[in-house]
Amino acid sequence: MYRLVYVSTAAESLKEDDIDNILNVSQSNNDERYITGFLAHNGRSFMQALEGERREVVDIYDRIVADERHFGVAQIIGEPVEKRAFPDWSMNYHRVDDNEGSSAMVVRQDESIDALLNPDMPRDLLYLFSKFLRMR
Ligand SMILES: Cc1cc2nc3c(=O)[nH]c(=O)nc-3n(C[C@H](O)[C@H](O)[C@H](O)COP(=O)(O)O)c2cc1C
Repeated sequence: MYRLVYVSTAAESLKEDDIDNILNVSQSNNDERYITGFLAHNGRSFMQALEGERREVVDIYDRIVADERHFGVAQIIGEPVEKRAFPDWSMNYHRVDDNEGSSAMVVRQDESIDALLNPDMPRDLLYLFSKFLRMR
C-alpha cells in the first residue's frame, strides 16, 4: 500500500462545475482501482491524498499532474503505508471558504471537519490537512 500527498494551485478559470466534474470522475475511477483519499480545497489551492496500490496511485497522479484545471503540482509525501488513512472514501472533498474565519464548506459523504479527525489517522497527516484547511 502506498500513499501520496500533493499540493497544487487551482487554475484561474476553475468553476464550481469543474469541481463537481472532478469529483464524479474521481469517485468512479478511484472506486474501480480501490484508491481512497481526500481532496481539500481552500478556494485557491488543493491538497490531495491518494492511497492504494502503488502502481495505481502513481498512474492516477501522473494524470492529475497533467490536468490543466490546476498547476504547480508538488508532491509532498510519497510513502509505503500499512493501512489506509481514508478507508471509506473513494474521494471525499472538503472545501473551506474565507468567510470571516468561519469554515463554510461543501462536502460529499461526510459533513464536517470532524470527519478529518479520525483518531486512527496518522498524526502527521491530520496535522497537514488541518493546517492546510485553516490556511487562507
Ligand atoms: C485537483 C484535482 C484532483 C483530481 N483527483 C482525481 C482523482 O482522485 N482521481 C481521478 O481519477 N482523477 C482525478 N482528477 C482528474 C484527472 O486529472 C483526470 O481528468 C481524470 O482522471 C480523467 O482522466 P482521463 O481523461 O485520462 O481519463 C483530479 C483533477 C484535479 C484537478
